[in-house]
Amino acid sequence: MVNLADWEWSELRFDYYKTDCNIRYSFAPDTGWSDMQLTEDETLPVPLAAACLHYGSSLFEGLKAFRGVDGKVRIFRLEDTVQRLQASAARLCLPIPPREMIVEGCCEVVRRNLRHLPPYGTGAAMYLRPLEIGTSTSFGVKPSEEALFVVFCSPVGPYFKGGIRPIDVAIDCEQDRVAARGTGDVKIGANYAASLLPYRHARELGCASVLFLDPLEHRYLDECVAANFFAIRDGKYITPKSTTILPSITNRTLQTLAEELGIEVEVRPIPVEEIASFEECGCCGTGAIIAPIGNIVDMRNGKRYHYTDSVGSTSFALYQRLLDIQYGVAEDVHGWNTIVE
Ligand SMILES: Cc1ncc(COP(=O)(O)O)c(C=O)c1O
Repeated sequence: MVNLADWEWSELRFDYYKTDCNIRYSFAPDTGWSDMQLTEDETLPVPLAAACLHYGSSLFEGLKAFRGVDGKVRIFRLEDTVQRLQASAARLCLPIPPREMIVEGCCEVVRRNLRHLPPYGTGAAMYLRPLEIGTSTSFGVKPSEEALFVVFCSPVGPYFKGGIRPIDVAIDCEQDRVAARGTGDVKIGANYAASLLPYRHARELGCASVLFLDPLEHRYLDECVAANFFAIRDGKYITPKSTTILPSITNRTLQTLAEELGIEVEVRPIPVEEIASFEECGCCGTGAIIAPIGNIVDMRNGKRYHYTDSVGSTSFALYQRLLDIQYGVAEDVHGWNTIVE
């Protein structure tokens, strides 16, 4: 194991590094949720016939903790993450982890791994990964009554080393990410498994991600493999309204910040033809905050739509504003930060 305390923080990639400990809670119908268990072990004891290994009873979340300019440690939008995690558990018929337990797990995993929390000014942060799996054993397809809830963390470097850079995305890589009335609006492992093949097709085209269309009609923009989509045009922030995309916490945050900067926000179905008219567009999510889109490659007709070679001014203003709140440089007027210590 690499001793991260000795690491050059600036060398960190956006990747997994083992830390000192992680946190677990188990659920059984008779006893409910266990007390918090702390462990150094980075493996899980999972029965061979567990539901998570066969029937996709698996969900997760991703959020970040930051060492601020004032030395305080903040977790960004923890309460929103709690709600989304609970919605995912409900959709998978898994035991729903109580709010207090999720909050305790996230705060405690940061406190116990403080020496791995990157200092302010390095551009790095600590990524938290809560997850829940169904552990009941059965050959029948049915909801898992037992579960394991885990929170682990890893220091992560900035998504873009050496500054924000545009990525290319591909439209219509043959497969949909989710079904029209499926599970696109929750954060479950199965959605990501289904994205892997179209993602591979996009990579073969030299693109960093897929921009999926709505799975019912393939007429509207939906989202990317692990990020929402937004565009800027005529002074407006435009982002898809769709029941098949994950409600991104970053996207919601950017909408609020856009309004505060006097930018009108439109959340509506976006016909795919509109890609020809965008001034800026990008992917947004916890990892990168904003990844500007340099080009959209439309696989249906081979057309390439070019937007930027760097980052558009509106996208950058929103990105900077959000970072300032996360690092305690700008005031957190919305109460988005949970101070851990
Ligand atoms: C499919 C998908 N959409 C959108 C997002 C962005 O969501 P958030 O801003 O909450 O990280 C993610 C990343 O978590 C994702 O995996």
